Amino acid sequence: MFLAKPSDVLVKHFELAPEVMVLCSPWDEVQANDIKFTEALFRREIRIDPGFVLVLAHDATAARRLGTVVPDDRRYLFVSDETFQKTLDPQAFLRDLLREGLGSRRLFDVRLPAAGPQFFGREKELEALERDVLTGHCLGVFGLRKVGKTSMLRRISNKFRTAGPSAKRVIPVEVDLQSLPFKRSTLEGLFELIARRLDRELESAQIRVLSRSAAPEDRLVEVLDHLSRELEARLLLILDEYEVLLGGRIPASEGVRLLTWLRGVVQEHPGGFSLVLAGRNGRLIAPARIVGVDNPMYQFLRSVPLAGLSPQECRAMVKKIGARMALRFTPDALEVLVAESGGHPALARTLGNLVDTQIPTSKRAPSVVDAAVVKSVLPRFSRDTDEDMRELVNASNDIEPRAGDYLVHRAHEIPWIGGEPERRIEDALVGYGILHPDSHKFRIGRLAVWLRENHACPPKAAHG
Ligand SMILES: Nc1ncnc2c1ncn2[C@@H]1O[C@H](COP(=O)(O)OP(=O)(O)OP(=O)(O)O)[C@@H](O)[C@H]1O
Ligand SMILES: [Mg+2]
Repeated sequence: MFLAKPSDVLVKHFELAPEVMVLCSPWDEVQANDIKFTEALFRREIRIDPGFVLVLAHDATAARRLGTVVPDDRRYLFVSDETFQKTLDPQAFLRDLLREGLGSRRLFDVRLPAAGPQFFGREKELEALERDVLTGHCLGVFGLRKVGKTSMLRRISNKFRTAGPSAKRVIPVEVDLQSLPFKRSTLEGLFELIARRLDRELESAQIRVLSRSAAPEDRLVEVLDHLSRELEARLLLILDEYEVLLGGRIPASEGVRLLTWLRGVVQEHPGGFSLVLAGRNGRLIAPARIVGVDNPMYQFLRSVPLAGLSPQECRAMVKKIGARMALRFTPDALEVLVAESGGHPALARTLGNLVDTQIPTSKRAPSVVDAAVVKSVLPRFSRDTDEDMRELVNASNDIEPRAGDYLVHRAHEIPWIGGEPERRIEDALVGYGILHPDSHKFRIGRLAVWLRENHACPPKAAHG
């Protein structure tokens, strides 16, 4: 296993990092352990290109045998040592191999929360989150479907995990409430889930906290006491998909009991414990009373609406991902992409992916993507995002009643005169990244077109 410095031509062609990983295996069989060691090296070395490993192996069956062992987010390019030795022009051979191997990676098409080199932007949001957590605030992070809530919360959690000794120590515990087993959809099940995640986090942080009680609900308090007494550390509990607590999966009364208990724990540990709830919108958690009792989160959570990436961040993301696959997006092409997607990362990636799949790897020398190329895939983009647009309108109505009607009027350029309700709707839609902050025009261009195509023009101006 060694690190190689590729030629400048190759670095430029695929936007590679200064060094790339090469794994040479002269043995009869490449082992799963070789892959494990290689992956461990990636975690230690930051100068290596994270996108791929070149494997020169004697074992012709390696690619097939190890297919299930290699990680999904890194391409392992297998070459038999014999083939490599026989080639007359090793440089041209390597260039073609990389063009095919790296150009066919479909890097825009990421469905899981984005991490590592697939994560872009959010600097301002991350800074604000960090500040809020360190000053002991509790937050509600609300944003449209696939806008990047989980990605961002994972990113901040990893930042806390890897912070140096000079930083204030924060132990993040991420809980995806959707992972609550159906059979344990009860208050006890929730406590168990939180305790399990908490213990897993402590284990990887190598913190030992003796358990004095077998009850999962006592665990959190035990750990909090230990952290503040022994390590001057604080705990950040992230409950992702908070709707599970109030939306029918478990009785809302149980969800409220959990939140009431958590509020009490926050209040008993000032500065030692922060709570973050994340979900599609703040509707379920907004009322003063829920299922006939006081809502413990009322005026307790600081609401953080999450919009898409800023235009600069979105441009940087598309440019960089494209470059790794030998696609050069021109500034005009990036403008079209930002205008259509409004910086919503999943929409921008869907459009980027359509462009990517259009261009055969053989044409990537690199291939220039101009505005005309992006526009040529818009009809397909419109078909593929039909359901997403419908969801955006439903989400808007969830955020503010009548927001959908307001959007239909705006899309057809018919006035919607509404005084106070209009201002409230506009503020909410700006916060969620559906309208532009200053002009209040559509930020997600595709949505305006979809509304015109799917909703008849209202006959007259409406009053809010
Ligand atoms: N900061 C980012 N950089 C690059 N891509 C991102 C970023 N944030 C989100 N994405 C893209 O958007 C997709 C959705 O992200 P994520 O799962 O974090 O969103 P979410 O808001 O938690 O979605 P859901 O509403 O389904 O919970 C990811 O699979 C990834 O492709
Ligand atoms: Mg999520």
